Amino acid sequence: MCRILVMVIQFFRGIADHVLEFIFGIYWDRQREPVPDLDRHHECLRESATSLARKIKNKELKSEDLVRAAIERIKQVNPILNAVIDERYEAALAEAREIDERLDMGITDYCDKPFLGVPFTTKEASPVKGMSLTFGLWSRRNMRASEDSKAVARLRAAGAIPLALTNIPELLIWNETRNPVYGTTKNPHHTGRSPGGSSGGEAALMATYATPISLCSDVAGSTRIPSFNCGLFGYHPTAGATNLRGLFYRKGDEGNTMFCLGFISKTMEDMAPLMKVVAGDKQNLLNLDRQVDLKGVKIFYVEEFGDFWISPVRSDLKNAMKDVILNMEKRWPTENSPETYYHEGFNHSVNLWRYWMEKEPEDYFSLYNNGDGKPFIAFELVKKLLGFSRHNLNLIIRLAGLRFWPSPNPEWAETLTRELKNDISKTLGDNGVLLLPSGPIPCPYHYFPYTGPYNFGYWSIVNVLKCPAVQVPLGVNSKGLPLGIQVMAAPGNDALCIEVAKYLEQEFGGAIMACKAK
Ligand SMILES: *[C@@H]1O[C@H](CO)[C@@H](O)[C@H](O)[C@H]1NC(C)=O
Ligand SMILES: *[C@@H]1O[C@H](CO)[C@@H](O)[C@H](O)[C@H]1NC(C)=O
Repeated sequence: MCRILVMVIQFFRGIADHVLEFIFGIYWDRQREPVPDLDRHHECLRESATSLARKIKNKELKSEDLVRAAIERIKQVNPILNAVIDERYEAALAEAREIDERLDMGITDYCDKPFLGVPFTTKEASPVKGMSLTFGLWSRRNMRASEDSKAVARLRAAGAIPLALTNIPELLIWNETRNPVYGTTKNPHHTGRSPGGSSGGEAALMATYATPISLCSDVAGSTRIPSFNCGLFGYHPTAGATNLRGLFYRKGDEGNTMFCLGFISKTMEDMAPLMKVVAGDKQNLLNLDRQVDLKGVKIFYVEEFGDFWISPVRSDLKNAMKDVILNMEKRWPTENSPETYYHEGFNHSVNLWRYWMEKEPEDYFSLYNNGDGKPFIAFELVKKLLGFSRHNLNLIIRLAGLRFWPSPNPEWAETLTRELKNDISKTLGDNGVLLLPSGPIPCPYHYFPYTGPYNFGYWSIVNVLKCPAVQVPLGVNSKGLPLGIQVMAAPGNDALCIEVAKYLEQEFGGAIMACKAK
């Protein structure tokens, strides 16, 4: 009975989503602005970070030229996208020159650095010494980082050069990239749409060839949502392997957490080498060097969760998943052909995430005023509506959700999570992957996530389960918007996830860039 009611509500919700999207489109489709194509003399930016590093070491490419190309490219696209919010161009050029000089002198002690001379960008929540550190809060608008986050330090130690910081949503917890300090970041595929959040600035740069390496983080989809919206790959590893020191408010000793570092890229080739760098001494938890033979891999898939809080999955995304399954049925031997997977835990993905989010150390209520007393949410809402607030409405909505949405019963949440985890581990083992939808709706217009603030359930369940997952782009829909799918494996099976994503990269054409390369 209840199930039928849910189905009826979901049916009307699906229609409402379409109607609302149509209305949003009347305004936002007119705001669309194209991103300039990549010039021939910036051509090096088409290549993977791995290949760029190889060329620099072999002295086929100067690090300085690469850094300069990235700077020039950022200057072309950023006035349209508003992705970069702070830069260190001169320092990066100087560091690149030093690398070139040392290579010219034949100093080879450097050469085992895997990303020698390749510039990288990172979201503002992962600090770089001396640069902006606001987390999007107006009250922190003058704050600067006193040291590098551990991940930034590790990338530097691997030879990579920090170039710029990119925009994030206020306190990271929203599906779009907008904050009161730096404004809104736009999706390069359609600037009337959002690149997603919270690593939206990174995805916008990567999709326009403006950065070779994109360091991200994810507690509810923040690496994978922007990569999906911008037609890219997004790799979220098994939880616990990446050192979070310095990221957001983390000290790196929090132990059990859903938060992970991750990378957005235009190619899968870079993912494992980059992840090894930021995982450092914990990379054995990811087994990235394991040899995987795809012939024996078991494929499972879930078309739709049946979670009341999430919009119905659009038919274009469902069809994209069907294409993947058809492809695999043809390619894989019959005894391994894809099977559906069901567990009731998925019907409650948003609630489970809601429960585990409370166990995370951040107290968003204290962070709201940067430690200066907790807000009274109803009052904040009134202030916002009267125009007296320095916060975004989306942050107030998130906090209202945390305050007023009754916390799930702990015993229920913990039992269901444990059962789901066990079932996933048992079913997938070390040789199975689960295909999940990449969200219910392809890349939304700006402000559209207000119509469904909990539509991130397809991403956040991966955080709850602490599993590795890769968002894989799968071409575009009839409106030219990127489609995708998530490939998830049991914890520790990152190599398997990556191998299946690489297979799909070959079969379905890989990243969808937002501009042409001449
Ligand atoms: C969970 O969702 C699935 C898919 O929509 C549905 O078939 C199933 O009946 C739901 N289970 C429960 C217990 O609500
Ligand atoms: C949030 O982002 C995901 C990924 O793009 C999307 O599927 C979902 O629909 C978004 N939420 C809304 C309300 O647009």
